[in-house]
Amino acid sequence: MRNSAKKYRSFPPVGLKDRTWPNKTITKAPRWCSVDLRDGNQALITPMNLEQKLNMFKLLVDIGFKEIEVGFPSASQVEFDFVRTLIERKLIPADVTIQVLTQAREHLIETTCRSLVGAKRALIHVYNSTSELQRRVVFRMGKKEVKELAVKGTAWTRQYSEKYLNGTDVFYEYSPESFMGTELDFAVEVCDAVVDEWKPKAGERVIINLPNTVELATPNIYADQIEWFCRHFKSRDKAIISLHCHNDRGSAVAASELGIMAGAERVEGTLFGNGERTGNVDIITLALNLHTQGIDPGLDLHDMDHCIEVYESCTDLTVPPRHPYAGELVFTAFSGSHQDAIDKGFRAMKDSGKTLWEVPYIPMDPKDVGHTYEAVIRINSQSGKGGVAHILRVEFGYNTPKAMHPELGKMIQRISDATGQEVLPGVIRKAFEDEYLNRSSPVSLESFKISDQSGLNGDVTSISAVIKKDGKKRTVKDTGNGPIDAFSKALKRAGAGHYTFLSYEEHALGKGEDARAVAYIQIADEHGKAYFGVGTDFNIVGASLRALLSALNRSEQSKTDKSKQKASATGAKKHT
Ligand code: KIV
Ligand code: ZN
Repeated sequence: MRNSAKKYRSFPPVGLKDRTWPNKTITKAPRWCSVDLRDGNQALITPMNLEQKLNMFKLLVDIGFKEIEVGFPSASQVEFDFVRTLIERKLIPADVTIQVLTQAREHLIETTCRSLVGAKRALIHVYNSTSELQRRVVFRMGKKEVKELAVKGTAWTRQYSEKYLNGTDVFYEYSPESFMGTELDFAVEVCDAVVDEWKPKAGERVIINLPNTVELATPNIYADQIEWFCRHFKSRDKAIISLHCHNDRGSAVAASELGIMAGAERVEGTLFGNGERTGNVDIITLALNLHTQGIDPGLDLHDMDHCIEVYESCTDLTVPPRHPYAGELVFTAFSGSHQDAIDKGFRAMKDSGKTLWEVPYIPMDPKDVGHTYEAVIRINSQSGKGGVAHILRVEFGYNTPKAMHPELGKMIQRISDATGQEVLPGVIRKAFEDEYLNRSSPVSLESFKISDQSGLNGDVTSISAVIKKDGKKRTVKDTGNGPIDAFSKALKRAGAGHYTFLSYEEHALGKGEDARAVAYIQIADEHGKAYFGVGTDFNIVGASLRALLSALNRSEQSKTDKSKQKASATGAKKHT
C-alpha cells in the first residue's frame, strides 16, 4: 500500500479560522427530501419497476416525507411515465411536493416540465457539474461557460415552467454538482448568478443544494465549506441551503450533521443509505440520531420492520445486521459484561419509574422502532450470568435470586460450549426447568394439607404431606412456625434430608387466571455445600414445598454423581 498511496494527495483544508459550527448544537430537524426514487433508483442493478416505485412512494409518504424526488423524467420513458402516473392517478397528497431532476440542457428541461403538467406543486431540480476536475477532464469547459450553463438552465426552467405549468406551484432547486471539489468562491459565484436569474418573489426561496457528489475529505472540511459558502453567498436570505452527501469515505452521516451545524437547513438522502457506489446519506440514521437527542425528527419510523420489508422488496438490497437502528443485531448484546450492565439498566429504570432512557450499551429504546426487548440479550459462549438471568426474567417471568445467577450462567455456558452456537431462549427455559423444576427424584410431593392453630407459644402450623420416595408413597407429618418449617421437620423426621435452610424468595409468575407462584429456596447440605431449588404451584405454599424438594433432590443427585465418579475412578485405577 505504501507505493500505491503515492497516487493520491491530501484534500486542501478550507482554512476557516473563525469557524462557528463546532460550537453549534442541532436543535431541530432539517427539511428532509427523499431521493430514493431518483439517486437511489439510478444505483440499482435492476431499477425499480412501476409497482415497486409506487410501493416506495407510498412508504415515503407514510413515513412523512414532504419532498420526494420522484425521478429523472427526461432520462427515459419509464421515468417520465412514473411521474405521469403519480399525477394522473392523483397519488400525491396535497402537502407533498414532488421533485424531479434534470441536467441543464434545454430539451431535457422542456421534457421535464411537460412531465409535470397537472401537478399541484413541483420542485424542478437542475444541476451541472462545477468541480475543477469535471471542468477540466469531462466537459473541457472554463469557469465562464460552466456558470453560463447554470444560468441558462435556470432561465430555461423559468421559460418552460411558464409555458407548461400554469396551474402548478413551481419551486426551483439548483445543484453545483461535485460541490465538494469546486473552488468555493466559484461555487458561490455560480449560485449567486442562478438566484439572480431565477429572481425569487418576495418570501420565495430557491433551494441551493451543495452535494459532496463524491465524498473527498473528512466531514469537518465539508462543514467548513458549508459555513464558508453561507457566509459569502450574497443571496443567502433568498435561499434554502440543502445538503446531499454521498458516503464514499463512510462519513456521510457525520458530514450531514456537521453541515447542518454549519448552516444548512435541508437534507437530501435515502432510506438505509441506498445510492450510487457507497450510497447517499442514510436519512433513517440521521433522523434517529436526532430522536436520541430528544429532537422530533418529523419522520415516523415506528414500524422499522415494515420499512425494511418495503425497501428490500423494492431495491433487491438487504439491510445489513449492523445497520444503525435497523439491523437485526443493533440492539443485541452477546458479551457478558454488556449484558450485566443492560440488565442493571433495565432494572434501575423499572425501580425508579422514570421514563428517561438510561440503559447502558443500548442508545435507543428498541420499542421506538417497533422492536421488542427479546433480542436485546442473546446468549452464546461470550455471554454470562446476567444475560441468562435477564432472559429468564424478561421472557419467562422468573426473577431469580442474584446468588443463583453464577450457577445459571455456568449451566448455559456448558450448552453453548458444547454446541458452539447461540442458545435460544426456549433452550434456556428448558434447561432451567429440567434442572430446577422437573425434579421428582428421589423425593416428590404428591399432596399436602396445612392447618394453622394459635397456641400459647404463638402460631403453629401443622402439615400432613404425601411424598413419594424412591418410588414408594408415604405420609409425613409435623408442626412448625410455618408451612416450610413444618414440612422441613417432617422430611427430616422421615430421614429424607439433612440440611440447613439458607434463603427464601418468592414472587408471582404470570398474571390473571393462569398466575402461579414461584419460590426459590437455598439450602446447605451437611458439608456446607449450597443448593438452590425452585418450585411453582398455583399457591405459594405448594411452590415453597416444591422448591425445598427441588433443592434437596439436587443435593442428593450431586452426592450420587460424586460417588459414581469415585467408583469409576477406583475402577480405572484397578485396571492400570
Ligand atoms: O450526487 C449528486 O451530486 C447528485 C446531484 C445530481 C444532486 O445526485
Ligand atoms: Zn447524488
